[in-house]
Amino acid sequence: MHKTENWGTRIGVILAVAGSAVGLGNFLRFPGQVAQNGGGAFMIPYFVALLLLGIPLCWAEWTMGRYAGTRGFHSAPGIFSVICKTNKARYLGTIALLMPLVIYMYYVVIEAWCLGYAICYLDGSLMPENNPGSYEDFFAHFTGQGSDGALLEPDTRWFLGLLLLIFGMNFVFIYRGVTKGIESFCRIAMPIMAVLAVLVLIRVMTLGTPDPTKPDQNLINGLGAMWNPDFAVLLTPKTWLAASSQVFFSLSVGFGIIINYASYLRRKDDVALSGLTASSMNEFFEVCLGGLITIPAAFMFLGASATEQGTFGLGFVAMPSVFAMMPMGQLFGFLWFFMLFIAAITSSLSMLQPVIAFFEEGLGMKRHASATILGMISMMGAGFVIYFSKEMKALDTMDFWVGTVAIFILAMVQAILYGWVLGIEKGERELHEGAHIRIPFAVQLVLKFVTPLFLMGVFIMFCVYNASDYIASLQENPVAKMSVMLILMLFGFLLLLVHIAGIRWEKEGRFDQVFSEEEISVQDNR
Ligand code: PFF
Repeated sequence: MHKTENWGTRIGVILAVAGSAVGLGNFLRFPGQVAQNGGGAFMIPYFVALLLLGIPLCWAEWTMGRYAGTRGFHSAPGIFSVICKTNKARYLGTIALLMPLVIYMYYVVIEAWCLGYAICYLDGSLMPENNPGSYEDFFAHFTGQGSDGALLEPDTRWFLGLLLLIFGMNFVFIYRGVTKGIESFCRIAMPIMAVLAVLVLIRVMTLGTPDPTKPDQNLINGLGAMWNPDFAVLLTPKTWLAASSQVFFSLSVGFGIIINYASYLRRKDDVALSGLTASSMNEFFEVCLGGLITIPAAFMFLGASATEQGTFGLGFVAMPSVFAMMPMGQLFGFLWFFMLFIAAITSSLSMLQPVIAFFEEGLGMKRHASATILGMISMMGAGFVIYFSKEMKALDTMDFWVGTVAIFILAMVQAILYGWVLGIEKGERELHEGAHIRIPFAVQLVLKFVTPLFLMGVFIMFCVYNASDYIASLQENPVAKMSVMLILMLFGFLLLLVHIAGIRWEKEGRFDQVFSEEEISVQDNR
C-alpha cells in the first residue's frame, strides 16, 4: 500500500496554500494590472472574477484534492482518474504537471533577481552614490536583456551562483517533504513576509509630500493614481481577460497546485473554511498591501508617468528609484526585495510538489531520485530562460502561453470535472465533510453553469481579439518559437510518463478498490 503524507496542522496547510498564492503576483503583477486597466474600475471585473471563478474553483480544487487524496492519489493524473473513474482521464492531468513545472522555470529566475537586489541593497551597490547610471540600465544589465548569453559574462556570473543556491534551497525543502519541508517553512516565512510588507507599507504611508517643490505628488494623489476609476475600460474585453488571469495567477487556482496540496488532507479535515481563509489571506496581501505600496510610492517620487510601467518596470526600476530618494532607503530597499524573495520561494515550492508527487506515485521513484530528476529538468528550463535573456523573450513567451493562456484550459477542465463528472450534489456533500462553515448551494450552481461559461466566454474573446498578435510574434521571433517548442516537448515527455504511470497503476490494481468502492457508495445513496 502506498504510504501517504499528511499535513501536520490546520493552520499549517492554510499557510502553505496561502504561501503558494501570495507571491510576486500580489506585489508586482497586481498593481501593474490595476494601473494599466482603469485603476479602481479594474476592481469590478476583478471581484466578479474572484466571486464567479476564483473562489468557487478554489473550493472545487480543495474538494477534489482531498477526495482523491484519501483514496491514495496525490498527483493530477491520479486525481483526475479517481474523479472520472477511468484510468484514461489521467492524460488530462498532464497539463496540471506541465503548468507548474514551466512556471517554475522562469519564476525561480525572478526569485533570484529579488534576492540579488536584496543583496545589492545590503552592500549598497544599488544606492545612487554607487550607481551613477539609471536604474533601467542596471536592471537591463542585471537580467542580461542586451543580448542572449549576456548572463554568462564574468561580471554577471555571480548571479548564476545565486540561482544555483536558490535551486538548492527549493529542493532541500521539497526533499524534506510536505510537513517537514513546505509546511514548516511556510509557518515561519508567512509571518515574516507579512511583517516586512507592513513595515514597507507604513514607510510609504507616512511619506506625506516627499518633495515640497512638487506639492501634487503627495500620498492622496498617489493613492488616486492607483485607484481613481476609469469606467470606460469595462467595455474592452482585454480588461476582463486581464482581471480573470490575475485572479487565477494570484490565487494559484487552475494550476493543479491546490488539488495536490489538498490531497494531503485527512478525510475529516475542513476544506470549506480553510479554502476561504487561504484565499482571503491572499486578497489581503494583494489588495491591502500590494495595492498600496508600489503605485503610490512611484507616483509620489517620480510622478504619474512612472506608474504606467509594466510589472517588472514597477518592481525593479521604479521602486529602486523611490528607495534612492527615500529617507532610510537602503534599509527599506533591502526589506522590500527580501520580502519579495520570501514571497516567491513559498510560491515556487508549490510548483515543484505536484511533479514530485507524480514521480513518486506514478513511477514508483524514491524521493532522492524524483528530486534529482526534477532538479535536472527544471534546471535545463531555467538555463534556457537565463541564456535567452535578450529582451526577456523566453521568459515572456513562457509566461504568456502557460501563465496566462493555459490556465483557462485547465480551469475549464477542473470546472467540468467537478460540476459535471463528480456532480454538484456529491461535490457539495464532499465539500461539507468536516466543514466548519456552510457554503450556499448557489455556489455549486455557479460552479456547474456560470464558471465554465464565463471561462469559455473570456477564452473565446481572447482568441478573437488577442491571439493573432501573439501568434504573429511567434513567427517573427526564433526564441519565442523555441520557447513554445520547449513547452510542447516537455508536454510530450510528461504525456509519455503519464501513460507509463497508468499502466503501472493498472497492473498494481491501484484503482480496483477505488472504483468499486465508489459504485457501492453510489448504490447506497440511491
Ligand atoms: N500565486 C503566485 C503569485 O501570486 O505570485 C504565483 C503562482 C504560484 C503561479 C503557483 C502559479 C503557481 F502554480
